Amino acid sequence: MQLNEQYRTLSQSYLFSTIAREVDAFRAANPQADLIRMGIGDVTLPLPAVVVDAFAAAVREQGEAAHFHGYGPEQGYDFLREAIRAHYAGFGVDLPADDIFVSDGAKSDIGNILDLFAPGGNTVLIPDPVYPVYCDTNHMAGNRVVFLDANRENGFLPLPDEGQDADLIYLCSPNNPTGAVYSRDQLALWVAYARKRGAILLFDAAYEAFLQDDTLPHSIFEIPGARECAIEFCSFSKTAGFTGTRCGYTVVPHELERDGLRLREMWLRRQTTKFNGVSYPVQRAAAAVFSPEGMAACRENIAVYHGNATVICDALRSCGVWHVGGENSPYVWMKCPGEGSSWDFFRLLLSRAAVVGTPGSGFGKNGEGYFRLTAFGDPEATRRAMARMVDLIGKI
Ligand code: MLT
Repeated sequence: MQLNEQYRTLSQSYLFSTIAREVDAFRAANPQADLIRMGIGDVTLPLPAVVVDAFAAAVREQGEAAHFHGYGPEQGYDFLREAIRAHYAGFGVDLPADDIFVSDGAKSDIGNILDLFAPGGNTVLIPDPVYPVYCDTNHMAGNRVVFLDANRENGFLPLPDEGQDADLIYLCSPNNPTGAVYSRDQLALWVAYARKRGAILLFDAAYEAFLQDDTLPHSIFEIPGARECAIEFCSFSKTAGFTGTRCGYTVVPHELERDGLRLREMWLRRQTTKFNGVSYPVQRAAAAVFSPEGMAACRENIAVYHGNATVICDALRSCGVWHVGGENSPYVWMKCPGEGSSWDFFRLLLSRAAVVGTPGSGFGKNGEGYFRLTAFGDPEATRRAMARMVDLIGKI
C-alpha cells in the first residue's frame, strides 16, 4: 500500500481544530469563565423565519407520499439555481443556470475542485495570509505552491507579477482573514494575467454579501473575460447563517476550456460520481434566502454583524492598535500589541480576558504579528470582549 506522503508536509491539525483544543483546555480549567468566541467565523444569529418555514414545509413534504423527493437533479433543483441566477443578475452578471452547481458548502468545493487538475502537476499561486484550506488541499495534492505576499505595503491585496508562472490562482475577496477587497481594476489585472498564461482563477466569494461599498465587485464574473479563466465559489454560510445547515454553490462557466476539455463537463462528471447533492429541504431553505423577506432578514442580520465590526474597530482605535477590515467584511485584522508572536497574544487574551481570536500566523507567515477577530458574535458579548481587550492592552 502507498499512502499519500504529502500528509507529512501538513501541520499536525487544521488551524481551527488546534484552536478548539486550546479553548477546550481553557474551559476545563476555568469552568466559570465567561468565554467569548471571536475566533472561527461562525455565525450566531438564527436562520430567518421565512427560511425556517420553507425548510420545515419541505421536511413535511418528505413525509407525504404525494410530495416525497428522492435523489434530486444532479446540479441542484431548478428553483434554487434559478434563484442564484437572478441573484447574479442583480449585480449585472448574466449567468446561465446550467453553469451553477449547488453543493454542501464552499469549503468542500474548494478542496474538491483539485480533482480536475493533475495532482503534483501544477504551479499554484496562493496569497499569504490566507484561508488555510487553499494551501492544505494543495499540499495534500502535492502541487507546487508559490505564496503571494499580502502585507501592509500592498494593502493585503497582492497583484500579478508578470515574471511569475502560474496554473491555478486563488483569490478571496472580501478577504478572509484580512477583510481587504479587490477593486474592479485590480481584478481586471488578475483576469488579464490568467488569460495570458492560460491559468485558472479560483475565486472565493463567500463574503460578498458583506460589501457595503457599491463600487466594489461581488463576483469575478463582473470582470470582462473572466468566464474564460475563472471558477467562483460561494456559500449561504455567512450570507444567511447556514454554517450548521450547509449549502453553497460553485459556478463553472461553459466557456472555460483547456486542451479541448470543458471544465464544466469535468466538474459535472466529478460531482455526479462522488456527490449525491444537497437535501431537498436544505435547497428549499436556501431558495427562501432569495425571497424579498429572506433578503431583508439576511440584510438585517448582516447589519448586526457590521455593527459588531464597528464596536471592534472603535475599541482598537481607542487604544491605538493598527487594524483593517470590518467595513466590507465580517473580519477585523489587527496588529498584535506588545512584542510576542500572534500565538502568544492568543494565549494572553484567552487566559487573561477569556476572549478567543485567531492568531494571524495560522493563516501564513505574513500573518505573524497579526490577529483576526470575527464580528459574528452576539453584540453584547462583543462589547464585553472589547472592553476586556482594551483593558488588557492598556496593561501590556
Ligand atoms: C473562518 O473562520 O475562517 C471560517 O469560518 C472558515 C470557514 O468558513 O470554513
